Amino acid sequence: MIDLHTHILPGIDDGAVDLDMALAMGRCAAAGGITTIAATPHFYEIPQWSLVKQKVKELQKEFIKAQIAVELVPGAELLMDMALVDMAAGEIPTYGDAGKYCLIEFPLQQIPLYAEQVLFGLQTKGITPIIAHPERYGAVVEDPNLALGWLKTGCLIQMNTGSILGRFGSSIKETAKIMLTSNMVQMVASDGHGSERRRLNLFEAFEALVEIVGRATAKDLVETNPRNILDGDFQLKVQPVEYRKKRRFFFSRLA
Ligand SMILES: [Fe+2]
Repeated sequence: MIDLHTHILPGIDDGAVDLDMALAMGRCAAAGGITTIAATPHFYEIPQWSLVKQKVKELQKEFIKAQIAVELVPGAELLMDMALVDMAAGEIPTYGDAGKYCLIEFPLQQIPLYAEQVLFGLQTKGITPIIAHPERYGAVVEDPNLALGWLKTGCLIQMNTGSILGRFGSSIKETAKIMLTSNMVQMVASDGHGSERRRLNLFEAFEALVEIVGRATAKDLVETNPRNILDGDFQLKVQPVEYRKKRRFFFSRLA
């Protein structure tokens, strides 16, 4: 499996606090069948792409020393911001620094009015935005079809394992299920912040995913699609469909 959303770099954001924790996260990932981890620190906290790439190299060396057989790939979790539109393509953090796919989050409370402009701005630079955990955004819980709109404009969707496992509450779990069964999700990742509570738990979510979408699609979400993203060549296999709320019928009794 490949985990495309983690905060594993030590001492750089609200993820791993030190090297020991980063190593513990790596061991936990390896034990759970993860072969590749993208380090995606919050970019607003470390506005230097070169620093992220350097830290990934350093941590990879530590993994080798500690015999943790996991490959690390640089990335970042960008915060939706108009400033991204003005940045040169090469300065924007993308997976593996390949200039093709980036991970971007919205503020949890509200989807900014300029979101479409930023997403489009990234696409004009040849970068496909992957929207991080939209199932956690209040507006998407209200209307899961917002994700369909982003997919139609060429963006992709990453879902968190914790949402599928119910760690963020029942309405987010329900939204996750709706999005999964409507083919609105292309990859599932841990968004792991540590080695305990929010750990790299793709393997825990995998069986839940199998129940919801079947084994073949579950494998696509945690392995095949993330691999294609890192290879810079992802093609949408299944078209997303609109979610229609089930109507409740009330029978009024005639007098
Ligand atoms: Fe994150």
